[in-house]
Amino acid sequence: MELNAMQPSSPDLLGEHPSILALRKLINRVARSKVSTVLIYGETGTGKSVVARMIHQQSDRCLCEFIDINCAAIPAELLESELFGHERGSFTGAVGRKEGLIETANGGTVFLDEVRELDPVMQAKILTLLDTQRFRRVGAVNPINVDVRFIAATNKILLSEVKAGKFRDDLYYRLQVIAINIPPLRERGDDIFLLTEQFLKKYNAVYGSHMTRLEPQVEQIFRRYQWPGNVRELQNLLERICLLEDGDCICVHHLPARILRETAAAAEAVSTPASEAFEPAAGPGVHGHSYHDATMHFQRALIERVLTQCQRSFGSAAQQLGLTRHALRHQMLKLGMLTQDIATDNSPTDV
Ligand SMILES: Nc1ncnc2c1ncn2[C@@H]1O[C@H](COP(=O)(O)OP(=O)(O)OP(=O)(O)O)[C@@H](O)[C@H]1O
Ligand SMILES: [Mg+2]
Repeated sequence: MELNAMQPSSPDLLGEHPSILALRKLINRVARSKVSTVLIYGETGTGKSVVARMIHQQSDRCLCEFIDINCAAIPAELLESELFGHERGSFTGAVGRKEGLIETANGGTVFLDEVRELDPVMQAKILTLLDTQRFRRVGAVNPINVDVRFIAATNKILLSEVKAGKFRDDLYYRLQVIAINIPPLRERGDDIFLLTEQFLKKYNAVYGSHMTRLEPQVEQIFRRYQWPGNVRELQNLLERICLLEDGDCICVHHLPARILRETAAAAEAVSTPASEAFEPAAGPGVHGHSYHDATMHFQRALIERVLTQCQRSFGSAAQQLGLTRHALRHQMLKLGMLTQDIATDNSPTDV
């Protein structure tokens, strides 16, 4: 694949996949609204922190602070005084009055990253804060009013945590009034190449490298790989290649063994060798109409393979097979791969 020179469409959340276009629109709407709490869900490395910052930057709160608090990184016993501050002498070591992060963020945004790590006591205090926009410093009598937007993020499905009794249901429902889902990289189609291009530009500039192309086989691997670490994993991989490898083309041998192993296994699972595909399906009644059976078998295997390669996107699969969506749907109905009710029920992903 040749990477074309193009202008970055946005310095923040790059991507042209419909799900990313919709996400950018939602971010802008939420940013300009009066909404006081937002919950962002996405697998690790999908861009939750990027989205949280964009909401702040596109809002009229951007002149005040954006405070990023990683709930998993601050020990539980310190978190309360970090967030709410304390009065002098309120506990051993509290030598003076201290303003907490929530107060610092007044007029701005607080980002509660990895929110499910809050312990039950803090969950209760945060719920009160969200409901009243008031809190007390540790050791204080009088509450303080603040005007803060809270953005929480999680990479675990919070509802499961609620069901497991680890997360308060009232806090969950309070947070998820506006819920933003960030899709994993493997579901963003060709955005992976747009991101690749931008990251290569960035790291070529940093490391003086000249990587501008992907070998066709690498392109296939990028499409097939599941990217469990999402955009961060892609970014780190490209940085490493720009730093360590020579030339202008990313080749298969530049990729880590783990990626090669996983994509080889995926390829094996979806590909049917031609000889096997043409083998008539075993079973009674095969003899006598083996040509017909073998053809149907091959057609099914081919469609299934292309659908898997296209992450079950019906439109992309049809395009790759040189068929219209209508013709592909018709073929799948004929081959017994779809039933009439499923065919009208949006499955595969975009029938
Ligand atoms: N759409 C995107 N365009 C450009 N860069 C992106 C995009 N999404 C993520 N990134 C980059 O990928 C990296 C990971 O993003 P980020 O830290 O926001 O992920 P996260 O979902 O918060 O991850 P974690 O769950 O580990 O906290 C960052 O360097 C970020 O700048
Ligand atoms: Mg993050």
